[in-house]
Amino acid sequence: MAIIQFPKEMKWGAATASYQIEGAVNEDGRGPSIWDTFSHIPGKVKDGDNGDIACDSYHRYEEDIEIMKDLGIDVYRFSVAWPRIFPKGAGEVNEKGLEFYHKFVDKLLENGIEPMCTLYHWDLPQALQDKGGWNNRDTIDAFVNYAEVMFKEFNGKIKYWITLNEPWCISYLSHYIGLHAPGYKDLQLATNVAHHLLVAHGKAVQKFRELNIEGEIGYAPNTTWLEPFSNRKEDIDACRREVGHYIEWFMDPVFKGEYPEFLVNWFKKKGVELPIEDGDMETIHQPIDFLGINYYTGHIARYKENEGLFDFEFVEMGYERTDIGWPVFPEGFYKVLTYITERYGNVPIYITENGACYNDEPDATGRVKDDRRIKYLKQHLTTLSRAIQSGVNIKGYLTWSLLDNFEWAEGYSKRFGIVYVNYRTLERIKKDSFYWYKKTIANKWFEF
Ligand code: BGC
Repeated sequence: MAIIQFPKEMKWGAATASYQIEGAVNEDGRGPSIWDTFSHIPGKVKDGDNGDIACDSYHRYEEDIEIMKDLGIDVYRFSVAWPRIFPKGAGEVNEKGLEFYHKFVDKLLENGIEPMCTLYHWDLPQALQDKGGWNNRDTIDAFVNYAEVMFKEFNGKIKYWITLNEPWCISYLSHYIGLHAPGYKDLQLATNVAHHLLVAHGKAVQKFRELNIEGEIGYAPNTTWLEPFSNRKEDIDACRREVGHYIEWFMDPVFKGEYPEFLVNWFKKKGVELPIEDGDMETIHQPIDFLGINYYTGHIARYKENEGLFDFEFVEMGYERTDIGWPVFPEGFYKVLTYITERYGNVPIYITENGACYNDEPDATGRVKDDRRIKYLKQHLTTLSRAIQSGVNIKGYLTWSLLDNFEWAEGYSKRFGIVYVNYRTLERIKKDSFYWYKKTIANKWFEF
């Protein structure tokens, strides 16, 4: 038995995102987003699922907040649906949209839960996509304008702001691999989008400072770790390219004001140019208050000529896998956190997402025994404790997700929640992992 203990001041939380839980897509003036469009195209989302109803949290948020209160979290990370605030992406503000988030944030605060707001968790207003989406620099201005409205409106209420969730997914997964909305497969386009996202992030941070908004601002890139199969240079370099595409590509510009040269050269060989305009790198290179880290999985990998974008392949090691097929790889979590700290200094970090997909269903008594999720959480929290002991500046840990929800291209077939959602009745059932997490939050330690 080992006792794993956490610092008293560390914050605990849970996370969700608007399109994945809210539903009510046509209510109170909300405009369509790219995910409404995408999910209604046959073949794009498993089983033809969409977010029209999702967890219906737009109507059930009070019940959800009761659940959070029972859980005892300090922080709740949610995202705002941009098309509720600007149904057409820009132009006139939809007051009803603001009203909803005011009611919601007030309720969180009443219950002693700190709101952590993500401005962009993938639901781009369709009207902006119609004009080129993130490939069009006008979208940067629209984003900053939307951010400004939110900052001013919620100044003093929301103290934690995240500009973007997972810019790698917004760019490469959605515009090169094509799995997420808007579903393109074009490397140059994806690279333009990635760059424009970083500029949008930098400009939003500048706006936040200029307006003197109370609180902290950061962003939440997704990370993974590939451990080289051998110490051969080609294996090491291949892993470095893939990991670098998540970490350096999206963090060097923010922390150092430049793109990593080894990847710029790699992309150049593929015929891809960076769409950098004068002043962009300075704009992106704004000090941030914290870094959000999302981590789920990693692999052992090795060089393979002409395989994918970066010439590598995963090596099967008989990993334990979650029900979405991702290897359980806690060692990678440690590597990511220590690597980032070594590379960028002692930046304050919130784990803004970490969790696992296990599709356990309620048993005959209505109980959801998701022991595998508890094990995953224990493994990753133990790893987090290792990182803390190693000097990584961890401020908080937020699990993904509070609720089972719309898992993007996987629809409702993949459950990440510590609370089960019955998608027929919309009933919520607290899983065993919920009770385990609740106890851990209360104690600030657990036993492995
Ligand atoms: C995203 C979430 C998603 C989760 C599990 C992250 O990529 O931010 O929206 O549900 O991982 O796939």
